[in-house]
Amino acid sequence: MSDGRSLKGLVLSGGQGTRLRPFTYCHAKQLLPVANRPVLFYALEQLAEAGIREVGIVVGHTAPEIRQAVGDGSAFGLSVTYLHQEAPLGLAHAVQSARPFLGEDPFVVFLGDNLVGTSIRPHVEAFLRRRPACQLLLREVADPRSFGVAVVDGRRVVQVMEKPAVPPSDLAIVGVYMFDVPVWRALDGLRPSARGEYELTDAVQRLIDMGYLVEHCRLESPWVDVGSLESILEANRVALERLSGRIEGALDAACEVEGPVVVEAGARIERSRLTGPLIIGSGALVRDCELGPYVAIGRDCRLESVRLRDSVVMEGAVLERIVWPLEGCLIGQQAAISGPFTDGGRFSLALADHSRIRSLDGGP
Ligand code: DAU
Repeated sequence: MSDGRSLKGLVLSGGQGTRLRPFTYCHAKQLLPVANRPVLFYALEQLAEAGIREVGIVVGHTAPEIRQAVGDGSAFGLSVTYLHQEAPLGLAHAVQSARPFLGEDPFVVFLGDNLVGTSIRPHVEAFLRRRPACQLLLREVADPRSFGVAVVDGRRVVQVMEKPAVPPSDLAIVGVYMFDVPVWRALDGLRPSARGEYELTDAVQRLIDMGYLVEHCRLESPWVDVGSLESILEANRVALERLSGRIEGALDAACEVEGPVVVEAGARIERSRLTGPLIIGSGALVRDCELGPYVAIGRDCRLESVRLRDSVVMEGAVLERIVWPLEGCLIGQQAAISGPFTDGGRFSLALADHSRIRSLDGGP
């Protein structure tokens, strides 16, 4: 940057994840896998791709797990600093806890549970060129009531509200915000909202009220806020759509493959039909199955005689001899469903780590 300051990244990865239970009993929500990679990794990659090098990650009680997954950030081409938020008191509070790290530099806030389907680079470039006090990324949604909502006039944002019961527009605030130094004035003295959180949306409204320039860019690509079990499946679909096929594992001659399918090295597939978009992680064993579309099988899973679509199976899980077609399933690490299960209709299962369903009829 010409004034000697550098654009930093700030990823918010604290919070509770209560709506993602039971999975968040065992994991930080930002580490739930979509297309076999933690959702947080996509945010880090997108910051790196936008030219940012220094990133702070705000962490709470799941700090050890996040540190272990991300390390020093070098795998992403980043230098990562961990910033502790003592309690999940809201997004504005999380940004405040990063103040010593951010100093006087402009910064991009990326919510660690948001998956954005395209590069954020054009939006970062627009911010650096135009230098508003704040730039929001907005996307039209069918039901904006569970998001921050913005009212715009041309490029300017004239009003923002957090999760309004009666939304004044259909423009939701995507979890990628850009700020310059005036934001510290807006954050100072901010009061908690009716739900008891320090809202970043309220800080943006204060900037507007103080007369600072708040602008927006429009996001046209898919975007998922991974806040519910259904949204993990949606994020998985979005991430899988971006994969191109690559077969590095071993498929026998009786396998059929259609569409973009990734089979990682060390996976073994026998007598199965694979329909992309689909990913199968290393060390997985798949036998007599029909998988896909929109399925992610983690590494070291074992699947035998199952039909599965639109699902996430986390590493080490076992699914065997299930005659019912499975759809919309979330299966945690090391969970096991061992048949034979021979009758019943269609099922959708959300089983967290180490869950077990075992048939006592006719099995070994
Ligand atoms: O996803 C976009 C929406 O994100 C925006 O439209 C809303 O305006 C914004 O308030 C936010 O709403 P959510 O209710 O979805 O935020 P959530 O509590 O899920 O937190 C988002 C991320 O920030 C998540 O990775 C957890 C982290 N976080 C959250 C809180 C409350 C923190 O690091 N510290 C916190 O105190």
